[in-house]
Amino acid sequence: MSFRIKRLCSMSAAVLLLIGGAAHAQSALDVSVLAGSCANCHGTDGKSNGKIPTIAGRPAPTLAAMLKAYKGETPPPGTTIMNRLAKGYTDEQIDALAKYFSEKK
Ligand code: HEC
Repeated sequence: MSFRIKRLCSMSAAVLLLIGGAAHAQSALDVSVLAGSCANCHGTDGKSNGKIPTIAGRPAPTLAAMLKAYKGETPPPGTTIMNRLAKGYTDEQIDALAKYFSEKK
């Protein structure tokens, strides 16, 4: 009887470890998936060769502040599209995206 209980406990510990690992992998994947949609306009890895600003390699706090400004009630004057796009992301996703692009050279 007590043997069975012990076994059950170690099994649930293993399950918890598995779930933890999967959640971690998922969040790393999420950022690159989210970032992929930015590439359509901002260029591969956020390096633009057109009119749209390059976002790669700029400080994460700057990028995050810009995205949150777009998301807010009064986006910067002249904003054409980022105000609509930024509303689709949570603040956590914005911080993750800012970090992701700041780490690109
Ligand atoms: C449909 C094209 C498009 C997509 C997709 C797009 N952007 Fe933008 N982005 C723009 C344009 C255009 C601007 C200039 C501001 C404006 O007109 O909205 C801009 C501006 C920015 C700026 C400010 C740069 C500066 O120097 O002023 C940041 C930061 C930014 N985008 C981040 C992102 C991120 C992160 C994503 C992906 C989640 C993204 N953008 C997706 C078109 C796009």
